[in-house]
Amino acid sequence: MTCNYPKMRLDRFIQLHTPHSKQTCKAILAGQRVQVNGKLCTEARLAVSEFCDIRVDGQILQSRQAVYIMLHKPAGVVSSTVHHQHPTVLDCLPESMAENLHLAGRLDLKTTGLVLLTNDGQWSRRVTQPNKKVAKLYRVSTREPIAAQAQAVFAAGVYFANEDVTTLPAELQIIDRHNAWLTLYEGRHHQVKRMFATIGNEVLSLHRERVGSLSLGDLAPGAFRELSREQAMALIGDLKF
Ligand code: URA
Repeated sequence: MTCNYPKMRLDRFIQLHTPHSKQTCKAILAGQRVQVNGKLCTEARLAVSEFCDIRVDGQILQSRQAVYIMLHKPAGVVSSTVHHQHPTVLDCLPESMAENLHLAGRLDLKTTGLVLLTNDGQWSRRVTQPNKKVAKLYRVSTREPIAAQAQAVFAAGVYFANEDVTTLPAELQIIDRHNAWLTLYEGRHHQVKRMFATIGNEVLSLHRERVGSLSLGDLAPGAFRELSREQAMALIGDLKF
């Protein structure tokens, strides 16, 4: 039996969520009165998370669904859950779905494309951790022609003096004089714009088409799609596409 993101032993969980003593909880488990995710469970040491469905004698102790959503963020929508001036990504969802969601990575106000929303904090941390190297594919349009040496510069990493960091190697695929695909494996503040600024160019438009194995495809601006648990888990297993 699997529960995503182990957190706490099942016997401890039952003890915390019922008035029973440790001994009684053991007996409840041994008596086959506990169900985890719909299956009888007698394993006291099973590690359970906040998203496991746990019942004793059919009574729900915990039943909370993990939600994973991909959204095509339009320009002018802010990557935040509250904002006093602009519509937020949550305004693109029905009110009934928006509760308790947070973003796994942000896009600038004018940037369009794929953003991820979830109520699963461990998942969003793993999606955004640079050491997980989840690939993000951007389409970039620039003011000046894109210099041929930009490919080597971005592959070597760009030094950002403000943070005293060098960006991870990134892959630039030039489409024509002013357009390119750029793949990043991290998500620093204004990263694409700052990388192009270091080579004396300005990003005029930016669109994120892909995150790991997830592509926007024909998802229209402002539209969203709920991800299956398999798709969500595949994303944090993905190193590259
Ligand atoms: N890099 C940027 O500069 N802006 C974004 O929105 C995303 C990546």
